[in-house]
Amino acid sequence: MFKPISLVVLGLFSSAVAQLNTLAQAAGKKYFGTATDNPELSNTSYVAQLRNTADFHQLTPANSMKWDATEPSRGIFTFQGGDQIVALAESNRQLIRGHNCVWHNQLPDWVTSGSFDNATLLSIVENHCVSWDVINEPFNDDGTFRESVFFSTTGTSYITTALRAARAADSQAKLYINDFNIEGRGPKSTAMAQLVKQLQADRVPIDGIGIQGHLIVGEVPPTFAQNLQDLAGLGVEVAITELDIRMTLPATPELLAQQKADYETVIAACKAVDGCVGVTLWDWTGKFSWVPGAFAGEGAACPWDENFVRKPAFQGIVNGWVF
Ligand SMILES: *[C@@H]1O[C@H](CO)[C@@H](O)[C@H](O)[C@H]1NC(C)=O
Ligand SMILES: *[C@@H]1O[C@H](CO)[C@@H](O)[C@H](O)[C@H]1NC(C)=O
Repeated sequence: MFKPISLVVLGLFSSAVAQLNTLAQAAGKKYFGTATDNPELSNTSYVAQLRNTADFHQLTPANSMKWDATEPSRGIFTFQGGDQIVALAESNRQLIRGHNCVWHNQLPDWVTSGSFDNATLLSIVENHCVSWDVINEPFNDDGTFRESVFFSTTGTSYITTALRAARAADSQAKLYINDFNIEGRGPKSTAMAQLVKQLQADRVPIDGIGIQGHLIVGEVPPTFAQNLQDLAGLGVEVAITELDIRMTLPATPELLAQQKADYETVIAACKAVDGCVGVTLWDWTGKFSWVPGAFAGEGAACPWDENFVRKPAFQGIVNGWVF
């Protein structure tokens, strides 16, 4: 007798608090989600919020699916870290974004220093790519291809090989190429569009473009929404895959207000573009943000602060979905 009553009470309570995934799905998107990482899972309050599917319907493992974690020695695969996050997501019915298959960073030495020839390196890529954000950061900012061990050995063949291998391994997974500084129109975004067109012409499987979205307060590119529309216009999904908006510390009320407006701008752009399927935060709390470690003197990039308290940015996301 008490159960139905308490469910009603909970329902009323949660509808009183606007929640990020609920609103994203009401706007026709597949998900709102967040990155997470294995060491963070020891904090029970953190995990409780991570499992809150009203806010997060999708998880991205920040590190434990990268090449150095999953194939530390050639042909020796270790999926414990990634599996832990997949199991958490499954128990919670959340989607997983596999991240990532081929990237120039966090590669084990055996790949970078192996002096493999083209054919051997392509077979190594083929063997490694099971699914997901298949290609990460293939471009330089000027739109030329990054001189990774993969590009310098194989040309762009590694991209084709990785995508085909991923499709062969998983016919259901959406296969993405993911990059940063393609948020606004410019040479890098144009290069991404050209690559996707070429892959489509060559009948290489490509389902989506991931726009990372590591932004700076007050500097959301003015062409953000048009660029999102341009990329979706290629006939692929687009997703904002690693959203955070950092500031020079200390956080002031003015900076926090601008950050709220910037989050709203990004979310409203995704809402307005049909092909934009979802948004993923690059972790939801400043406590576990990568920003202070990567950019000296900067931080406060996430919608929740270090103590898991919602910031004005949270309301900015809500506003972006609602208005
Ligand atoms: C590497 O091999 C592939 C497949 O044979 C070929 O298409 C590509 O042009 C080669 N790349 C280089 C840089 O030789
Ligand atoms: C989790 O993080 C919060 C916020 O920083 C902190 O207050 C709490 O003590 C942490 N809990 C555990 C179990 O580490």
